[in-house]
Amino acid sequence: MTNNYLLGIDIGTSGTRSLIIDENGNIISSAMKEYPLYTPRPGWAEQNPMDWYDATISTIREAVQKKNIKGSDIKSIGLSGQMHGSVFLDDSNDVIRPAILWNDQRTEPQCQEIYDIFGYDNFIKLSYNKALPGFTSPKILWLRENEPDNYKRTKKILLPKDYVRFMITGAYATEVSDAAGMLLMDIKERTWSDEILDGLKISRNLLADIFESYEVSAKLDAKTASLTGLLEGTPIVGGGGDNAAGNVGSGIIKQGIISDSIGTSGVVFAHSDSPVYDPEGRLHSFCHAVPGKWHLMGVTLSAAGAQKWYYDTFGPSRDIENKRPELKKYKLLDAQAEQAAPGSEGLLFLPYLSGERTPYADAFARGVFFGMSYMHNQDHFVRSIMEGVAFSQLDCLNLMSGLGINSEHIVLIGGGSRSRIWKEIICDVFQTPIVTLKNEEGPAFGAALLAGVGCGIYNSVENAVEKAVKKSSEILPDKEKSGIYEKTYEIYKSLYKSLKEDFKKLYELQFNS
Ligand code: XUL
Repeated sequence: MTNNYLLGIDIGTSGTRSLIIDENGNIISSAMKEYPLYTPRPGWAEQNPMDWYDATISTIREAVQKKNIKGSDIKSIGLSGQMHGSVFLDDSNDVIRPAILWNDQRTEPQCQEIYDIFGYDNFIKLSYNKALPGFTSPKILWLRENEPDNYKRTKKILLPKDYVRFMITGAYATEVSDAAGMLLMDIKERTWSDEILDGLKISRNLLADIFESYEVSAKLDAKTASLTGLLEGTPIVGGGGDNAAGNVGSGIIKQGIISDSIGTSGVVFAHSDSPVYDPEGRLHSFCHAVPGKWHLMGVTLSAAGAQKWYYDTFGPSRDIENKRPELKKYKLLDAQAEQAAPGSEGLLFLPYLSGERTPYADAFARGVFFGMSYMHNQDHFVRSIMEGVAFSQLDCLNLMSGLGINSEHIVLIGGGSRSRIWKEIICDVFQTPIVTLKNEEGPAFGAALLAGVGCGIYNSVENAVEKAVKKSSEILPDKEKSGIYEKTYEIYKSLYKSLKEDFKKLYELQFNS
């Protein structure tokens, strides 16, 4: 018997995941491998692209072997990955330096240069976006100015998942949703923008060819086939940036549906039938992984990332470890958060651990606990992190409403959606019903669905979603708790305004004195 299986691979920031599904969206097998993130200087974030490749090969092999899957069962492959990261390759296709990631903040000066070249308003008109340090083109300018020898050696610049695509196929290819985050595209036309490339003096030859996300972009090579157990020639579709792919996998493919993803970063994501231009460029306006469609995103750089930082730095409380010995890692933090009252009894958290994108676009902002007193214990700190992230996501949602983009409910996805308490907090802070999904498997799932469209198992992205995405449950906001959060949110918002100048002074004290 032969099966119609699809393989989705997500090159994430904490690890790579390979996921095999059948055409009804059932999970057949999966494997995950983690790798390190390097912070050579505060505010910098780098990874070794070879770690992504090694993790891709080993997770495909593991996922295939553990369920005895035949290579011929995998009909098509989709790639997704962390967006914006820059992989610089030389003439021999060797990686020149570690990749600079989406959450790296070193390129603030290069963003200013971009505005100087084009003019601030004009650049937003051209790119539909602000120049933000996380995006790729400022990283290219940074390399040219700070490591000119490395820049001279650069022959290709690829995004994380597209580097993996190159390694397993030999093709230099990307697709619309991830390419949009390079800040070198004409978003409306879904092509590279000659005007931006010329203005920045970046050669088109340095970039990959752009495909639509469902289109077959390359075929698996013989070496990868023998390393993984897949068949040589298996088609690989464009795939998607992790947000676009994750949202295909969550069914956010129609106007009027918004999702909130709580992963390392927190992302509020809305589908749009047309490209959205906001003259202030406050939200990211990118191409969707659905052909001829677009999306808007607001990004909180540190969401579950802030929780991970807390866990790695302080760990769970001894009290909760004694009380709930059956719980592990973040479940312990969930149990701690449940022990604190809504509003964390006056303890507020600003999640700007590595600066912020939305709504402030401020590389200098930093994390803050505000309102500490003798009565606060570790439970309050843990809960205030969840609440602070929810407030920051509300900031993003409010920007969308300001542009007339609303939704009757929010689909909650990402690791954070598996925490009951975080889900409740988000629901109460948003004052909107929250829907979760039965088979929410993140970006790898959406990439697998796109793979299915590419090889004809589904006749459209809409058809894939209809067949494979299943709603699980809905929760409603609690009026009393929402009332507490509404008042706390006002203080949360004014804290950034009060601290803005001091964040900058602190940065200068640290780095320029
Ligand atoms: C989106 C962004 C992040 C990364 C995380 O603009 O930078 O969500 O894609 O992987």
